[in-house]
Formats: sequence, C-alpha cells, structure tokens
Amino acid sequence: MTEGAPKIETERLILRNWRESDRELFARMNCDPAVMEHFPALLSREESDALVDRAEAHLEQHGFGPWAAELRATQEFIGYVSLFIPQFEAAFTPCVEIGWRLAREHWGKGLATEGARALVRHGFEILKLPEVVSFTVPGNLPSVRVMEKLGMSRNPLEDFDHPSIPDGHPLRRHALYRLSREVWKAMNSR
Ligand SMILES: CC(C)(COP(=O)(O)OP(=O)(O)OC[C@H]1O[C@@H](n2cnc3c(N)ncnc32)[C@H](O)[C@@H]1OP(=O)(O)O)[C@@H](O)C(=O)NCCC(=O)NCCS
Repeated sequence: MTEGAPKIETERLILRNWRESDRELFARMNCDPAVMEHFPALLSREESDALVDRAEAHLEQHGFGPWAAELRATQEFIGYVSLFIPQFEAAFTPCVEIGWRLAREHWGKGLATEGARALVRHGFEILKLPEVVSFTVPGNLPSVRVMEKLGMSRNPLEDFDHPSIPDGHPLRRHALYRLSREVWKAMNSR
C-alpha cells in the first residue's frame, strides 16, 4: 500500500490508497464483460495489475489519482473513482480527468456519483484545479448520466477520436464533458 494520497470519506464510501487484496477483486471486475462493455477488451490479471501499478504511481507522484473505493459499511473494495492526468495529447490536454469503474453488483445506488462528487470538491477546493474533464463513448449512458449529475456539460464540437483506440474501431469516438471551478462554485452557492 502506498502513502500517496489522502483518504477521502463520504457518507457511504472511503476513498483510499490501494491494498494488495484489492488486486484480485479488481482483476475480477476487469474481466466482467458488463463492466468492460464500453472498453476495447477485457483485461488479463497482468493487465489489471499493471493498471493498479499505474494508479499507485499516480497517487504517489501527484497526491491524487485513481483512489480505491471501499464501502464504509462492509469495508469491501468495490472499484475506483479517479482524478487522473491523461498521458495522450489532444485538443483539451493537459487536463485532469475524472473517472469511475465499479463492480457490477454495486451499480445503480448512486455510489459512483457520490464518490465523484467528493473528488470534484477535492479537485476544486484542495487541489485548486481550474477545471475537470471527463470522456466516454456516447453510448455509455450510465457514465454520461454520472457526468450530467455532476453538472458537467458536453460541447459536441469537442467530440474526439481517442488516440489509444485504433482507427475505425466503433469505440474510438468519444464525447468530452467539462466542469469548471466557476460553474461548480455557482452550482454550490445556490
Ligand atoms: C459508470 C458506473 C461507474 C456508474 O456507477 P453507478 O454507481 O451505478 O452510478 P450512479 O448510480 O451514481 O448513477 C448512474 C446513473 O445512470 C443511470 N443509468 C443506469 N443505466 C442506464 C441506462 N442503461 N440508460 C440510461 N441511464 C442509465 C442510473 O439510473 C443513474 O442515474 P439516476 O441517478 O439519474 O437514476 C458503472 O456503471 C460502471 O462501473 N460501469 C463500467 C465501467 C465504466 O464504463 N466506467 C466509465 C468509463 S467512461
């Protein structure tokens, strides 16, 4: 377990650094076709572990990143919510991306939104970010809905081809959503 990022608590979640025991559960999520429906491929155990390595390195280096999400009630690892600096170049980079991936049995209870709201607050109030972005294939309706519930907005003119997805692949086209600190502050002062 790294010491990279502060623990963040919400009503039902603890967002924390990763533990060795999270890896097996995370690998199980990453080979669930429902969880991976909007990604190009299921992940092997090695690929899933490599993602955890990257998450830990990002948390360590920046003090934020993909936080492991644990249910307060049961201490169960359920996935991650994330503030992440994408490494690819695009019209909107450099940027900080907010993202989420939860085990299927925990969907539909508002947990992704709850964790992401805490990270938006952390991003604006503690990290002083001017903006967070998010992106997904437009068909990922649950993810789009989380973005909307956070108050993010899409300008279709900013839709883009994800550089790490091959040309011609049906998942290549992505929608970009943005939320600025000013808009977030205005939403929270109402
Ligand atoms: C995206 C994901 C994290 C959402 O997690 P969650 O905890 O279920 O999200 P929430 O409950 O906070 O919100 C989901 C919203 O999507 C809505 N939704 C779910 N399925 C939907 C569908 N098929 N069509 C439209 N809306 C849908 C829910 O009703 C809810 O909105 P509401 O609160 O207005 O009712 C989860 O589905 C997941 O892990 N998916 C796989 C990984 C992934 O695709 N990550 C995002 C990559 S960009």
